[in-house]
Amino acid sequence: MDRAARGPRARRRVPPRRGRRRPRRRGRPARRPGRRRHGRPRRPPRRRPRARRSAAARVRGPPRLPPLRPARAEGRCRRPVHPPRRAHQARADPRHLRSPAGPQPGHRPALGRPGDRVLAENPTYPNALDALRQAGLRTGPVPVSDDGWDLEAAESALRGTAPRLAYTIPDFHNPTGALMPPEQRLRLIAATRAAGAWLVVDETVADIALDVPAPAPTASLGARGAADHVITIGSLSKTHWGGIRVGWVRAAEKVVNELATVRVAADMTGSVLDQLVALAFLDGADGALPERLAQLRSRRAALVRCLERHAPQWSWRVPPGGLSLWIDLGEPVASALAERAAGTGVYVSRGARFGVDPGTFAHRLRIPYTLPEDRLEEGVRRLAAAFHDGVPLTPSIERPHWVA
Ligand SMILES: Cc1ncc(COP(=O)(O)O)c(C=O)c1O
Repeated sequence: MDRAARGPRARRRVPPRRGRRRPRRRGRPARRPGRRRHGRPRRPPRRRPRARRSAAARVRGPPRLPPLRPARAEGRCRRPVHPPRRAHQARADPRHLRSPAGPQPGHRPALGRPGDRVLAENPTYPNALDALRQAGLRTGPVPVSDDGWDLEAAESALRGTAPRLAYTIPDFHNPTGALMPPEQRLRLIAATRAAGAWLVVDETVADIALDVPAPAPTASLGARGAADHVITIGSLSKTHWGGIRVGWVRAAEKVVNELATVRVAADMTGSVLDQLVALAFLDGADGALPERLAQLRSRRAALVRCLERHAPQWSWRVPPGGLSLWIDLGEPVASALAERAAGTGVYVSRGARFGVDPGTFAHRLRIPYTLPEDRLEEGVRRLAAAFHDGVPLTPSIERPHWVA
């Protein structure tokens, strides 16, 4: 069984390597290295450049083209996690980019086996839930609301259920927009470590920091080595372009290798063209981000104005970052409303889609503020009109579309 499948605690103890000692000949003084016995001092042996010895460079996986080599890119996937003790902790290698599937945490079977338990926030990003379930993992909920995480519930679930993996979106959580404080991240790191569970941290939205500085990578918190069981995933789709479905993984070298092996078995590799585009974006680094954030701030304000005008009875909290509002309709009619609104050309995600358990969040809608102001205005106007249509919306309990 591979180590990843056995969990982060199943680590082999490797005895410290001793340097090979040459027996010294008796009766002869030891020569200083780099100096000939006669003549000019010898040039010191040329060292291989550090980068070539990096762990990232040893990562196996799909073969890459020469243009995928550049290490110029900056950004979240390259932000230091710790002073570079090991290269793989310092930055992600471009080969850890993958496409087109985006960052899905249930990448099987490297991180678990069918039947293993996984803790997921409730609500959470629905495609992550789908990926976990498709991998045969059993999801257990940990509550998160506009006010944040119930860390005690998370710690108790970790102690009591021995999950293989916990999946979290601590930065501008999708869909609530909540931001996990550093001390809670530390508790989560410690609790998952104590439970022998992988902690998959989804940083896809982390750089969409509208009112606060972008949070430091969770894996960088705590004492060195305390976060070795953290697997960080992210994507370029939110920061650079929604059409680029290229994500990245940062984890211990061995885990990245195992994930790469699984990937090869699934579809060999992502689109090379997409990867080249992703690298071009990364080379441009954060150039376009401030502009994008300013645009999102103004669109978020526009959405709030539209909601205040057309649907003042709904409630919401303005998140410090992320891409959407998590609207409370006050009654469990979100599915019926979403369906009715779709008939008028407005597509919004109903809350039930984000629930780990069926039938929850029936009173919630997720409305993104990614569209231009005039389209947001028209969309909210139609949505509110559908809500006030005169024909009552029927409360609906969403049927699960999976088999538990
Ligand atoms: C938290 C989270 N993770 C992952 C993704 C998927 O990213 P991509 O669009 O690159 O597949 C999303 C997309 O909305 C997301 O919100």
